[in-house]
Amino acid sequence: MPHVLKGVILAGGTGSRLHPLTRITNKHLLPIYDRPMISYAIEALVKGGVTDIMLVTGGTHAGEFLRLLGNGHEYGIDRLFYAYQERPGGIAEALGLAERFVDQDRMVVVLADNVVERTIRASVQRFAAQEHGARILLSKVEDAAHLRHLGVPALDTGGRVTNIVEKPDDPPSAFGVTGIYFYPADVFAVIPTLEPSQRGELEITDVNNHYIGRGLMEYDIVEGFWGDAGESIEAYYAVNDFVRQHGANKD
Ligand code: DAU
Repeated sequence: MPHVLKGVILAGGTGSRLHPLTRITNKHLLPIYDRPMISYAIEALVKGGVTDIMLVTGGTHAGEFLRLLGNGHEYGIDRLFYAYQERPGGIAEALGLAERFVDQDRMVVVLADNVVERTIRASVQRFAAQEHGARILLSKVEDAAHLRHLGVPALDTGGRVTNIVEKPDDPPSAFGVTGIYFYPADVFAVIPTLEPSQRGELEITDVNNHYIGRGLMEYDIVEGFWGDAGESIEAYYAVNDFVRQHGANKD
């Protein structure tokens, strides 16, 4: 079993739901309380013990990440790599750009607009001990209107995930799939088999359903707050307010 876990942070996309703010910068450089959004994803990985990281970004402000992060050492990153996504072809497409960086190792993938209250360290350790397959983090979401903006798992009576539906009209459970994913290296053989979805993207939900269909998906339920700051301007401010009051990535 490989021991190294690498980190991949996905910070491409258009950020169109936060226009006009994201016409003048990359979404993941907008402030969440006192820091640029991207720094919370970095902190989640570093506090989780993952310090070899690739940042995938795109668009017209990619250079600003270099200026902010440099070699990453100030953020506790050991080695920081960068990749450039030419067009917003989806989360799974962005992940595919990390193939040579990850190589034969396993990986923790974090969407750079996701913020969690509590450290993900325990899940990182459970994945490190997991023999096969992938792992996702779910969050309890009571509001059905909110679930319609997320990936939502269907669960069987034994609590196993049987399928994930992306942005369902009729949410099959009260859990959202967060943007924190754990994959083995064979994810890079799955990505080229995907077909673009109706929104023209390679969907991470299709990657996850690949593992689910083979009985190779585990999950944890996140403790405490989880937020997707890119979902809407309301969500952006809700995450800001939460972090300002309670902090993030706490032990
Ligand atoms: O936040 C959790 C949700 O993230 C999940 O519940 C959904 O299953 C998953 O599909 C995703 O949904 P979103 O609609 O929120 O994804 P979005 O297009 O906003 O992309 C999320 C991040 O992924 C974005 O902040 C940067 C990165 N990304 C996205 C695209 C489309 C890229 O790096 N490249 C891309 O081409």
